[in-house]
Amino acid sequence: MSQTITLTQQAEPATLILKNPVQQPPTDDYRYSHLLPHFSQDRYPPLTPFNHTDPGLRALEHPNPRAFLQNATSVVEITPRLGTEVHGVNLAELDSDARDEVALEVARRGLVVFRGQEDFMNRGPEFYKSFGEHFGRLHIHPTSGHPEGFPEIHLVYRDANSTFNYERDDAITSTVWHSDVSYELQPPGLTTFFLLSQPATGGDTLFTSQVSTLKKLSPPFVAFLRTLTAVHSGIEQADFSRSGKRGATVRREPVENIHPVVRRHPVTGEEALYVNRQFTRRIVGLKREESENILRFLFDHIDKSGDNQARLKWQPGTIALWDNRITAHSAIVDYADSKERRHGARITPQAERPLPALEGLKLE
Ligand SMILES: [Fe+2]
Repeated sequence: MSQTITLTQQAEPATLILKNPVQQPPTDDYRYSHLLPHFSQDRYPPLTPFNHTDPGLRALEHPNPRAFLQNATSVVEITPRLGTEVHGVNLAELDSDARDEVALEVARRGLVVFRGQEDFMNRGPEFYKSFGEHFGRLHIHPTSGHPEGFPEIHLVYRDANSTFNYERDDAITSTVWHSDVSYELQPPGLTTFFLLSQPATGGDTLFTSQVSTLKKLSPPFVAFLRTLTAVHSGIEQADFSRSGKRGATVRREPVENIHPVVRRHPVTGEEALYVNRQFTRRIVGLKREESENILRFLFDHIDKSGDNQARLKWQPGTIALWDNRITAHSAIVDYADSKERRHGARITPQAERPLPALEGLKLE
């Protein structure tokens, strides 16, 4: 029987972890049991830099950069500032040009939600990888679970007996706004996520536009923010795993990297705020109190700006694509009492090293 790690447990002493084998989710007759989280003991070397060419740039040259939507039965903007919901387009059948156009549309709207994508999901992990590779080098997560043999597929998972998510049990809310793995030197751009299994209700995902978050601020303050860089850290996430949670595995040593506080999208040229509560730790060159107060103000601004946000309610067959460069998001863990399974897969291509909005800004 697997050892249960619940939200209510305190940090467990290392000796207790060693006595109990790391829990594995059940492998009953579940349809996607071959995609359940696996925690290999592999160790990975540090990531190396690479050149990223954004596929959205190619779409700018297309006669109709939105041609992939031609056969859609419905295209609806979720909010004025963020998100488009598409029906009637089969993501799995899109050719290379159409995938470029998807990248551009996601860059423009921050979030594009495709409904009715059972075909994509049924094609399996090799296909998931080949789809993602169109958009950049696939990120391999240092701590999360992945289907056995497919470390490029990041999984979120919770059921009646186990959770393999980054969930704090000492907070009043599960809301943690973030941009995925922003601590990497080259964090993700276009990111694909879908649920293989979901609760009857709950487990929605919140998104916010970091372009709009920035635009709400006054021009003199934005001008100041453009001159700043901040440290993003993966250490706390690694320590969470080292404490025995989420599979208790750290396969790559955590890194910290410095990114501009305001970054520019390489395709649209739009400026976006690029700090987040989960991974951004301090502003470089400021006194401690200055850094803490500015970051707290920005994090609070992200938290409470419902006018910049969208909430995605998942349906079977939904695939969401978002651009991690210009959005932030948060899981909502409001379904835990139902004991239902929520099993999600993420394909996470890395993109360019964040471009500062202020040309020539020093990043070391
Ligand atoms: Fe995330």
